[in-house]
Amino acid sequence: MRLQKFLARAGVASRRGSEDLMTAGRVAVNGEIVTALGAKVDPKTDVVAVDGKVVHLDDGPRYIALNKPAGYVTTMDDPQGRPTVRELVPSDVPGLFPVGRLDLDTTGVLLFSTDGELAHKLLHPKYHVAKTYLVHLEGRPGRGDLDRLRSGIQLEDGPTKPAEVRVIKTGKGEPVVEITISEGRKRQVKRMFSAICHPVVRLHRVSFGPVSLEGLPEGQWRDLSAEEVAALRGTASERGE
Ligand code: URA
Repeated sequence: MRLQKFLARAGVASRRGSEDLMTAGRVAVNGEIVTALGAKVDPKTDVVAVDGKVVHLDDGPRYIALNKPAGYVTTMDDPQGRPTVRELVPSDVPGLFPVGRLDLDTTGVLLFSTDGELAHKLLHPKYHVAKTYLVHLEGRPGRGDLDRLRSGIQLEDGPTKPAEVRVIKTGKGEPVVEITISEGRKRQVKRMFSAICHPVVRLHRVSFGPVSLEGLPEGQWRDLSAEEVAALRGTASERGE
């Protein structure tokens, strides 16, 4: 890990501020002052100090957003040996796990955390965290079809809660619809559109609660900002009972 990243992760300063500390000659690794911005450290073995004071990595909870590509199973271990999302997130974070799941062929926002308590809340139906999807469909649904989704549609495991539905594209090619649901049942969006006889061709999750991709390329991850974590906590508690 780059030294400035280590310092930022440890809460010493921002990454930029950490670089300033380094170039000012205030950072030592194993007793040697390091000013080169490309310097790397092994957080498990190297002793990093700022102004002579040893800095430890904060072992607090970690929150990550991945822009999941198609073709990866949402699990940290697949007995069938298929590619898993584990390959796409940092390997040096013990206890990191996906918060909920996306189907093999679904792309977009997938959260990961080491914070089991928050994950549990985010996934619990009573907290109603909004999830928004862009859906490419087979055939053009009529207004009545979409209204059925808006008011709640019967699936084999019970009726769905009201959803927000917006038509994004009609005309040539596959129609595209945006849908926001607050539940997270297995294959729910696909089952909802199958129920109106317009099967999903492609499914992309645009946001999970307050977290969106914000230009994150497919297959890449980023740490959530402190504001995003606070907003997620707010989402998970404000509608709780
Ligand atoms: N709904 C689905 O049908 N699939 C997903 O991957 C996510 C939501």
